Amino acid sequence: MPAEPYYLGDNPSKPVPFDGVITASHYVVPLFATMDWDQVPREKVVENIAGLQDPGGNLNDEIMMYIHVPYCKSFCHYCNFNRFHYPKQDSERLEKYTDYLIKEIDWYMRQPYVQARKFTGIYIGGGSPSTLPTSAIERLSSHLAKVIPNYDSIEKSFTGEPRTLRRPGLLEVLRDQGWDRITFGVETLNPEIHRKIGRLDTREDVDAIFDRMRDLNYKADTCVDMMYDLPGQSLFGFQDELTELVDSYDPTEIDLFTTIYLPYRPLHKMILDGRVAQPGSPWQLLAMREHLYDFLSEKGYHNTIAETWSKRNERSQYQTAHCARQDIIGIGCAARGNVKDMVSINPEKVDDWQKNVDEHGASTETLQSIGYEGVLDRIMVMFPRYKHLDKSLLGDFGEKVDSEVFERVLNVIDGHLENGTVEDEGDHFRVTKLGVIWHGNLQTDYLRHALNTEGEVLIEHLTEAKEDFDREDRFGINEQTTFIKENDDLYPKLMK
Ligand SMILES: C[S@@+](CC[C@H](N)C(=O)[O-])C[C@H]1O[C@@H](n2cnc3c(N)ncnc32)[C@H](O)[C@@H]1O
Ligand code: SF4
Repeated sequence: MPAEPYYLGDNPSKPVPFDGVITASHYVVPLFATMDWDQVPREKVVENIAGLQDPGGNLNDEIMMYIHVPYCKSFCHYCNFNRFHYPKQDSERLEKYTDYLIKEIDWYMRQPYVQARKFTGIYIGGGSPSTLPTSAIERLSSHLAKVIPNYDSIEKSFTGEPRTLRRPGLLEVLRDQGWDRITFGVETLNPEIHRKIGRLDTREDVDAIFDRMRDLNYKADTCVDMMYDLPGQSLFGFQDELTELVDSYDPTEIDLFTTIYLPYRPLHKMILDGRVAQPGSPWQLLAMREHLYDFLSEKGYHNTIAETWSKRNERSQYQTAHCARQDIIGIGCAARGNVKDMVSINPEKVDDWQKNVDEHGASTETLQSIGYEGVLDRIMVMFPRYKHLDKSLLGDFGEKVDSEVFERVLNVIDGHLENGTVEDEGDHFRVTKLGVIWHGNLQTDYLRHALNTEGEVLIEHLTEAKEDFDREDRFGINEQTTFIKENDDLYPKLMK
């Protein structure tokens, strides 16, 4: 039986406490990336790196490493991860990609500002790093063990997709090299929906990973990605899937992503063409979130951060870093990093990335300060994911940023306090259960970038849709797409 509804109830006309807050369902999002930074001239990058070396400057004493591998065996219809460049895959290219990862790692490891810090974790993500040859993964891992002084004691996460992760020999190498978090996508246990969203791996692949890990006595955390609000997925179907996932595999961590429909990915087009079913209404989406909150809490999972539900009642280092509370060095094409108020994004094309590594050591072309306003933006956008905001941290910005910007942030917080999505707990603000259910929407409220305008557009539509409950196709992808097309000049460009 689904848990007792907490806010939504059976009656969709029951008022939800969001009127007046710029809140939108993450549904069709014209642009996936919310923070893009312009390239800066090479001299500026060099100057900024030199500025980082000054220990009297903005040094943080902890750092982690993110390594990006942009290859997958096939491309899922919904996915946007480094979408432009899934280069031809042969073992020579993949070994060469690994050589360049090692080159870029070595460049960073020679920098005094990196040497002065303590590593807290390494995350190899993508894409699907499990597509690299096992020999390349072994080479990369042993290299990391050699150059990172505390390699043995830090958190190490490895991303795979089930088809390639299960292949003979790989899990042994990962175990022997100390990777203690293995993360991979399952997305849905409904075979029909699974096929429709373009996943070519099978349930058998997933079984094989869990079986193999057990046979190898490999104790790494298993972190499974799932998606909901998928085309044709009903609330009850989703509830069954979640029960089955926990009963069959009992993963350490479940990352439950609301499906983001991106206009330039095939899934969105297939829905518009009627080849794939519409997902349900936003109200069903919220009911799914409410169910997963209740169900996973009951099963002993903790919502440590954003969409992550973990048996461990603490955040992983990766999640802490990802939410911008810790510095990250980004290695590999399209990798992102940040060091205090500096952001770096590596070139998206493998060839450009390799050329930069050859010519400059670090491939970034964007290393620049985002300034106090940028840091405040990042903290606020990430606050709903992080769920906790110290008032002292916020207070520091009162004098440092433009008072109008700071005022706007306080107004958004007031709106959320009034609506019960955020609670004032003395020295900090905390995102409530209702806020967690709406966290994607809360994030939209804090964005000052392009997406914010789109958020405002979407809320108008959401408000209209709220008055229109009885229609079968209420707030479907088609209608929302039409609405965005008419109201957003970004959309036609993306559709080309
Ligand atoms: C790097 S992959 C996970 C590992 C591996 N590549 C795989 O797919 O098995 C990233 C994850 O992000 C999520 N994701 C990607 N595109 C998404 C979208 N449009 N909406 C929601 N979640 C998405 C999926 O859960 C996906 O598994
Ligand atoms: S395998 Fe993972 S990263 Fe690759 S396209 Fe599919 S979801 Fe995206």
